[in-house]
Amino acid sequence: MTRPPLPQRRFDLDVSDEQVAFFRATGFLALERITTDEEVAWLGAVYDGLFAARSGQFDVSRPYGSRGDHQLSQLLFPEQQVPELRNTVYYQNARRVIARLLDVAEADLGAWGHVLLKPPRGGHLTPWHQDESYWEPDFEYCAAGAWLPLEDVDMRNGCMCFLPGSHLGDVLPHHHYGGDPAVHLLEVDDAPDTSAAVPVPLRAGGATFHHPRTLHATAPNQTDRPRRAYANEFQLPPKRRATRAHRPWVDEGKQALAERVRATVRA
Ligand code: NI
Repeated sequence: MTRPPLPQRRFDLDVSDEQVAFFRATGFLALERITTDEEVAWLGAVYDGLFAARSGQFDVSRPYGSRGDHQLSQLLFPEQQVPELRNTVYYQNARRVIARLLDVAEADLGAWGHVLLKPPRGGHLTPWHQDESYWEPDFEYCAAGAWLPLEDVDMRNGCMCFLPGSHLGDVLPHHHYGGDPAVHLLEVDDAPDTSAAVPVPLRAGGATFHHPRTLHATAPNQTDRPRRAYANEFQLPPKRRATRAHRPWVDEGKQALAERVRATVRA
């Protein structure tokens, strides 16, 4: 894939003690400006190239292997295809901010990313969930996520909605969306009281941050334009737990995926 060069204008973002305190109390933080408009445009071109290539992306809202148009498309580890993503102002700033939020050394943070595409006119919702519910139950995590929309977002196209303070407890029981373990999306079992939920509309160039246990969701995309987002998880090396956490939905999902792969190989 040929790409234009990464824009060179840099700026170093830092967060205030008040913003760090807000994150620790609520489990999320919104920053209005994390990167330049030039870089948002560059990221948009890279993003569109990744999705146009039609490889490695899957619909998280329907059973693995479903045919037809995706309703919520995900592609994991885009940095493996486009290593320059790690040199972006966004990525560098996100890592610095998260080191502050977690009070850890920046150099100790590893990272992985994924990109999400909510197509126009009905792109699927993301149900209420905690990110850690997706992760390996054998490990403990010290992590936070950064989420960068590539266009302006609000409730009409699926901005982030957070439930303040929900990060302070354990990982809650989750299930695969619609009760089908072959559907990648997870949803928390007990619908939370969302009267205190905070939607975070944002202009392109801003980002949100959240703790892996913060309950969050996004609405369907009702607009005529795609809603593109780039998400990164920054984390210390996970530590093996003395006892595996009880998260049966993780194994149910792996089993359903393995069965689907076996069926595809046989077909
Ligand atoms: Ni999430």
